Amino acid sequence: MLDQVFVTGRRLPGCRAGDAIPPVTVGDMTEIPEQIEAMPEEEAGRQLEELYEEIERANRAYFVDDDPFLVDAEYDRKKRLLRRIEEQFPALKRQASPTDQVGAAPAERFRKARHSQPMLSLDNAFDEEDVFEFDARVRRFLAMTGDEALDYVAEPKIDGLSISLCFQDGRMVRATTRGDGTTGEDVTRNVQSISEIPSRLDHAPAFIEIRGEIYMSHADFHELNQRQAETGRPARSYMNPRNAAAGSLRQLDPEITRSRKLRFFAHGLGEVSERIGDTQLEISEHIARMGLPVGPLAELCDGPPALLACFERLQDARSTLPFDIDGVVFKVNDISLQNRLGNSSTAPRWAISAKFSAEKAWTTLQTIEIQIGRTGALSPVARLAPVTVGGVVVSNATLHNEDYIAGLGSDGLPIRGGRDLRPGDRVQVYRAGDVIPKISDVDISKRKVGSTPYRFPSACPACGSEARRDKGDAARRCVGDFVCAAQRVEKLKHLVSRKAFNIEGLGGRRIEEFHEEGLVSDPADIFRLREKVGDGERRLADRHGWGERSATRLFDEIDASRVISLDRFIFGLGIRHVGEVVAERLAAYYGSWEAFERMLENAEDRAGDAWGELNAIEGIGATIADSLVSTVQDERTRRIINDLAAELDIQETKAPQQVASRISGLSIVFTGTLEGMTRAEAKARAEAQGARVSGSVSARTDLVVAGPGSGSKSRKAQELGVRVVDEAEWAGLLEAGNPE
Ligand code: IVH
Repeated sequence: MLDQVFVTGRRLPGCRAGDAIPPVTVGDMTEIPEQIEAMPEEEAGRQLEELYEEIERANRAYFVDDDPFLVDAEYDRKKRLLRRIEEQFPALKRQASPTDQVGAAPAERFRKARHSQPMLSLDNAFDEEDVFEFDARVRRFLAMTGDEALDYVAEPKIDGLSISLCFQDGRMVRATTRGDGTTGEDVTRNVQSISEIPSRLDHAPAFIEIRGEIYMSHADFHELNQRQAETGRPARSYMNPRNAAAGSLRQLDPEITRSRKLRFFAHGLGEVSERIGDTQLEISEHIARMGLPVGPLAELCDGPPALLACFERLQDARSTLPFDIDGVVFKVNDISLQNRLGNSSTAPRWAISAKFSAEKAWTTLQTIEIQIGRTGALSPVARLAPVTVGGVVVSNATLHNEDYIAGLGSDGLPIRGGRDLRPGDRVQVYRAGDVIPKISDVDISKRKVGSTPYRFPSACPACGSEARRDKGDAARRCVGDFVCAAQRVEKLKHLVSRKAFNIEGLGGRRIEEFHEEGLVSDPADIFRLREKVGDGERRLADRHGWGERSATRLFDEIDASRVISLDRFIFGLGIRHVGEVVAERLAAYYGSWEAFERMLENAEDRAGDAWGELNAIEGIGATIADSLVSTVQDERTRRIINDLAAELDIQETKAPQQVASRISGLSIVFTGTLEGMTRAEAKARAEAQGARVSGSVSARTDLVVAGPGSGSKSRKAQELGVRVVDEAEWAGLLEAGNPE
């Protein structure tokens, strides 16, 4: 852990050459986001699926079983990659993504306790630019110029276990773990055994919820592991102090917890009956006066350069500290500004954490393989001589697309110093933030004499059709569509996958088999499989790997999936840019397959109402709308979809339950200048009260909030008879839904 740096790109000021820390090249910093931008959608989809599964497993192992299999840096990398891919491909994002959740559901053995205010996570800054961007974002939200003073506090991020401690008249009445952020475990009795937490606070208000971290010092951790080893029983030894702290806190017997020497430090507040400070630092001082330990080494900083300097100091101090820190947390100091900034669904907008990380290794690029995805993209993959990177053996790396191999980023600017990649090259592999490793450098001096640049295929290696690259598309795509066996198989696999038709017993391999035998070519063939294999010589039950029971079960599964919800059906079609979330939105909006189909037909007229309405749905922009409409414009595709629909019973979508507030469920458009709050704040507050915010006015708009300077949108609203309110009325509506 000590040889990790926080930068993935430009070096931070104090990170000197010759340190144990490997110097990091300038290329990387711009490279990571670019690579994701340039990633073909299929690749993104594949990576997302893998990440979802792995993060869920890791969450359970870490939060519920206290038995993690991933080191923290690795977990963070995966989550960070997941977030970046989701941001880049919103259409592919799952509704219940781990990026929207913090932690995992609580373990079963402790009583559950609900947090009165959610316990959130922190967003991460991975390089210097992210820190500057954080400051800029805060200022934009608050409508502050760059010249206005804005103070931050930088504190070490202690690698422990989040805890909420509630005190009534100074006495601790409840201690709750974070759990999934909404509900945690009641560990009051165990926390009462921690000597650093006094049983009674001095100078405490009537009610105060203090949030902080339970952790274990290095010395206590080593002593505990030694003791565990000496007991003779097959006692577990913990992987790191953090897990030792988590495991020790959740002992059913509080006496065991007591023997484990847990420690605590406070880093903030939850619910309070009265204000105890106007700034983060004042709050820390007050908490310390009450008798609780507060985060050590906190510093007041007047902007990003000071924050980065503090980061550097803490990084230097890291190895000398008696406990683990895994980064630095930067917080807006002024509490009234913190309150205005509020939270996103997962993290406060007024804080960010900067973590320490990055790992690399050199190996040989053996070959470049091309895979064909569901929407025809040709995805190049590097096969590497196996090498260990950050404790994990790596033998593949993503190569994204032809520009990437040629040494160009998605903006056409050089990456890796503009050097191309060729089979046989010595390449540097890195896994910072990513599950699928990437290539960060190539050593030209080791390149074999006479090697030639890699030629990206201009024909699909699977079907020979032209592989065309459209303007603005990073990927070269096979135009074969359903003619291309590789694409067809991927589309079929997608159709039966868990999030779509979820046909158990019909996985990727089976689809490949059936396809190869000519039993399943089009989606509807899946639902005709029973007739196709019949009782004759193609009988499924007689085949290798099948029996009477598994064959019957498969047919039953297929029959059961004929009744399908509209969103799963739309998602299952595998249309480019139409992921799970988009499919849900479309299904919620149109309600029935008939209405959706009608829209698709009418939306072909890009000047008509149906097109306008489709584009006005929250989260649906021109790219998605265009992809939908042009896909079904293709006659063969339309026939395939209709054939499939004829085999199914597509269920109508029920209206979702709504949050109680004056604006809940409304579709709102903001236009003109708002004076009391920025657009970002207005949008966040509307969404927090259950409204949807859209960019354009249509007949489906319920409310237009118009500030000075609003022009065409207010006019259009008036024409359509949509209610238009000014900012004062808007503020009134917000208040009404916000009784406190
Ligand atoms: S401030 C999210 N300050 O890190 C609410 N958190 O990754 C604001 N953590 O759940 C938290 N040291 O438990 C804050 N100095 C510090 C921290 C800190 C550790 C933990 C905290 C939070 C987690 C987010």
